[in-house]
Formats: sequence, C-alpha cells, structure tokens
Amino acid sequence: MIESNKEKVLVKIAPSVLSADFRNLEQEMKKIEEAGADLLHLDVMDGHFVPNITFGPMIVKAINGCTDLILDVHLMIEKPQDYLETFVRSGADWITFHWESTQNPRELVSQIKSLKVKAGCSIKPQTPFEQVKEMIGDLDLLLLMTVNPGFGAQKFMLEVLPKIREAKKFIQENRLTTAIQADGGIDPQTSKLVQEAGADILVAGEAIFKKENYKEAIRLIREGR
Ligand code: DX5
Ligand code: ZN
Repeated sequence: MIESNKEKVLVKIAPSVLSADFRNLEQEMKKIEEAGADLLHLDVMDGHFVPNITFGPMIVKAINGCTDLILDVHLMIEKPQDYLETFVRSGADWITFHWESTQNPRELVSQIKSLKVKAGCSIKPQTPFEQVKEMIGDLDLLLLMTVNPGFGAQKFMLEVLPKIREAKKFIQENRLTTAIQADGGIDPQTSKLVQEAGADILVAGEAIFKKENYKEAIRLIREGR
C-alpha cells in the first residue's frame, strides 16, 4: 500500500481477462466485478509485435456488453495507430500502446486523447525509462512490463523494480499525475515488491482467474502478502 499525504491510497487491481474462462465470459466478468476488481485489463496481441495471438475489437465489444467496469486495453500490436478508433468504438476506456511499436509515440498519444479516452504507453522490460521520460507528462498511464509481453503465467522479472522506482521518483519530483501500472507475474508476493517500488495499478491474470475465490485472490494481491 502506498502512503500519500498520510492517507493510505489503495492500489488498484486490474484482472487480466487473458486467464479467464472464455467458455463463460459473461459469468466470469460478473464474478470479477463482484469480487472488487477496479478495472479490466484486456490483452490484444497480433502475432507480429508479440509471438502470440489473442483477441481483437469483437471480444472487447462483447466484454463491454457484460460489464460496467473500465476497459483497460493493452495493445501488443504493430501499427496501433490504425486500430485506435475501432477499439474506442468497441468500448475501450483506456488505450495503452507499446513504445516499441511506433516511430511516433507522441503523435499516438495525442490521437488517443483526441478520441476522448485515457492514453497509456507501455515499455518492455529491456526498454529504459529514459525513452519515455520526455513524454510522460502527456500520459495518463505508464505501463511497465514485468515480463516479456506475449503470454500470461510467466515469471516476474525482479530486474524491473529499479525502473519502477525511477519512474515513481520522476513523476513525484515533477508533480505529474501519471499512474504507474505493473503487468506480468503479479501475485501477493510480487505485489508487495511493486507497490513498495511505486506501482499504482497492478495487472494480474493467473493469480486471480486460476483461484477458486476471486475476491480473496484480489484482496491478497491488494494487501501484498
Ligand atoms: C502479458 C500480458 C499480461 C498477462 C498477465 O503479455 O500483458 O497482461 O496477461 O498475466 P499474468 O498475471 O498471469 O502474468
Ligand atoms: Zn497486459
């Protein structure tokens, strides 16, 4: 948990739908909403930017019809600029693209904002914070990957922790409002580490959807133990 102005600000939990049971999506979405999820993380993969293919706007639209939760769409695709409008029309509330997937990240941020949704940028574990530093003031969300993007159920990469600390320090020193999201290998133990480093929003797939009791799983991750 994060101390801010002496008040405890609870970390937000974004379950990753990738690990849900796709045979029962509607039920899964209802269950996760009742379990206290703050938003829903939707991982879009194209088989080019990452070596895996997941789902696109049709499924985002279907999920949008089953829940009132904020839809946080994480684009792991090439040419993200070509799909922004489609995802917004499908119900995306937040759109995060990968810094590594474009030559013009700043332009993409303004395109996303012009569609009246929140703009996020993500960097892979190997990409230094330095690369996004210049434009961080324009971002609503900075997604720091704690695994290599492409698959759920991977091992958390401890080496990303200093980058989370660096980003947090920069955001605080410059009085920015950008939220830091950590994604990949988050469970109650690694949750504690990323929260201590400064993450505000935690994405978790396996550590929630593969548990019997989603509410308990979310509570344990939120509390970091
Ligand atoms: C990985 C995705 C993650 C993934 C997280 O490329 O961006 O959102 O679903 O899953 P877990 O929590 O299982 O690592
Ligand atoms: Zn993700």
